[in-house]
Amino acid sequence: MAPARTGAWEDRNQENALAKIVVVTSGKGGVGKTTTSASFATGLAMRGHKTAVIDFDVGLRNLDLIMGCERRVVFDFVNVIQGEATLRQALIKDKQHENLYILAASQTRDKDALTADGVGRVLEEMSKEFEYIVCDSPAGIEKGAHLAMYHADEALVVTNPEVSSVRDSDRVLGLLSSKTRKAESGDGRVKEHLVLTRYNPARVAKGEMLSVDDVKEILAIPLLGVVPESQAVLTSSNAGTPVIVDKASDAGLAYDDVVARFLGEERAHRFLTAEKKGLLGRLFGP
Ligand SMILES: Nc1ncnc2c1ncn2[C@@H]1O[C@H](COP(=O)(O)OP(=O)(O)OP(=O)(O)O)[C@@H](O)[C@H]1O
Ligand SMILES: [Mg+2]
Repeated sequence: MAPARTGAWEDRNQENALAKIVVVTSGKGGVGKTTTSASFATGLAMRGHKTAVIDFDVGLRNLDLIMGCERRVVFDFVNVIQGEATLRQALIKDKQHENLYILAASQTRDKDALTADGVGRVLEEMSKEFEYIVCDSPAGIEKGAHLAMYHADEALVVTNPEVSSVRDSDRVLGLLSSKTRKAESGDGRVKEHLVLTRYNPARVAKGEMLSVDDVKEILAIPLLGVVPESQAVLTSSNAGTPVIVDKASDAGLAYDDVVARFLGEERAHRFLTAEKKGLLGRLFGP
C-alpha cells in the first residue's frame, strides 16, 4: 500500500513518510505564482515544516531572486536531473529560515531539459527529506506547466480578478483533473485551492475588476486566500525577501493567512473592502 501523504511533522519519524507536493499554477503569466510560491514555502518553513521550493521556469530563473539567493546558485534543477550534481549540492539552504531550501531553475535555453522521468526521480528523492515540496510553475499550459503539476497532491491556483486570468485558471483546473499522476492512476484527485492575488477592492467597487464572489462562482473551488494589490510585494522582491516576512504589510499578512488556512486553521478573510478614506483622501483621491 502506498504510504500516507499527510505531511505532518510527526510523520517524518515514520518510515516511508513522503512529502506533500504542492504546485503553484495559473495558466496566465505574470499573475503572482512566483511571489506566492516564495511566500507560501517560507510561511510553511516559519511554522517548523521542512520545505523545499522548486523553480520549474527553465530559462527564466526568477524564484532565486525573490528568495534573495541568486548569488548562491551553483547547480540547478536541470543539473540534478542530468546527473551533473547531487540534490545535496544543488539545494540552497535559506539563510533566514532554518527549514527552507530552494532548488533554482536552469538558465539553459533548452526547454526540453526537464523530462517527465527526471522530474519524477528528483521529486521522489526529495520526498524522503521534506514535508512539503512547493513547485513554482512556469506560465502557460505547455510542457513546463504540465511537468510542474504532474506529481502534485494539492494545487494553489493563482488567479487575478480579471476575465483572462480566470479563464486560464479554469483551463488549468481541467488539466489538474485529467493530466496529473493522481488523475491518471485513479488515486484520488489533486486538491485545488483558489488564491486570488493583486486584488484591488477600490477597482472592484468601481466595476473595473471581478469581485471575489464572481471569481469563486466561476471557478467553483475553495478560496484559500485573497492577497491585495500591494506596493510591499515589489519592495520585498527587490530586497530579496518574500513578502510574508514583512508582517507590517497587508500582502504579508494575507500570505500568512493563506499558510495558516492551508494548515487547517480557521481565519476570516480580510482585505476584501476598500479602506475608508479620510476627508483629504476623499477630496483629492482618484
Ligand atoms: N499582490 C501583489 N501586489 C502587487 N504586485 C504584485 C502582487 N503579486 C505579484 N505582483 C507583481 O506582479 C509581477 C508578476 O509576479 P510573479 O513573478 O510572482 O508572477 P508569475 O505568475 O510568477 O509570473 P510568470 O508567469 O512570468 O512566472 C511582479 O512584478 C510582482 O512583483
Ligand atoms: Mg513565475
